[in-house]
Amino acid sequence: MKEPNEMFDYYDERASEYDGIYEGHTPGMPEADLYKKDVEKIKSICGRFGKGHLIDVACGTAYWLPYYASNCSEITLVDQSRHMLAACRKRVNSLNLDISINYIKSDFFEVRFLSKVFDSAVVAFLMSHLTEEATGFFIDKLRRILNPRASVLWIDGSWSPIRKKYRDKSGLQERKLENGRAFSIFKRYFDEHDIESFLHENSLVRKAFYFGDVFFAVSTVLAY
Ligand SMILES: C[S@@+](CC[C@H](N)C(=O)[O-])C[C@H]1O[C@@H](n2cnc3c(N)ncnc32)[C@H](O)[C@@H]1O
Repeated sequence: MKEPNEMFDYYDERASEYDGIYEGHTPGMPEADLYKKDVEKIKSICGRFGKGHLIDVACGTAYWLPYYASNCSEITLVDQSRHMLAACRKRVNSLNLDISINYIKSDFFEVRFLSKVFDSAVVAFLMSHLTEEATGFFIDKLRRILNPRASVLWIDGSWSPIRKKYRDKSGLQERKLENGRAFSIFKRYFDEHDIESFLHENSLVRKAFYFGDVFFAVSTVLAY
C-alpha cells in the first residue's frame, strides 16, 4: 500500500548514505552524540532479540541484523527498495552466516505470505511512515503471518523534548539527500504514552524497553 508521499523513491535514492544517520552524520537534529548513544543501547536490545524464523520488515540496509542474526535459524528480509536491498545483501554476505537468508524486494503490503510462518519480527522505522489507517492494515497482516507467542521488536523515532525543538510530531515533512534533492515524506514520532497505548491495543506484552532522546526500541511478545 503506497502512502501518499515520495517515501519509496526517497529511500531508494538514499540507500548509499542511509547508515550515516546511525553514526551521527547528517542527523535531523544537531546533537549527533545522542544518535550514537541510542544506537548502542538498541544494538544491545537486538543482541537479546530473535528466535526461529525471523522476518525483518522494511529491512533497509539490515543495519540491526548483525546483532540479532545469531539468535535465529532463518531470516527473511523484505524491502521495496532495490538499492537498500543491494546494500543489505552486501552486509549479510560479509557476515558469513550459517543460516538461510531470504530476500524479498517488494512492498510488504503486496507480498503473499503463508499464515503463521514467522517466530519473530523486526519492524524498524517503518511504522513512523504509516498513517494510523495503514498501521492498522500493517498490524493485521503482521499478526496473520506470525506464530502465536511470536516476538516483535519495534524500533523507531522518539518524540522527546529535544525532538520537539526541530520537528513536528506528525505529518508530511521535508527530507533532503546529501545532493540537495528534497522529498516530502509522511513521518510521525512516538512518545512513551503512544508506545504503551499501541502495545496495549495490539496485545503486545513488553519485555525490554529503551526510550532515548532520538530513538526507542521495545521488545515484545504477542499475548496470543
Ligand atoms: C527508515 S528506513 C529503515 C530501514 C531499516 N529498517 C533500519 O532500521 O535501518 C525505511 C525502509 O522501509 C522501506 N519501506 C517503506 N515502506 C515499505 C513497504 N511498504 N514495503 C517494503 N519496504 C518499505 C524503505 O524502502 C526503507 O528501506
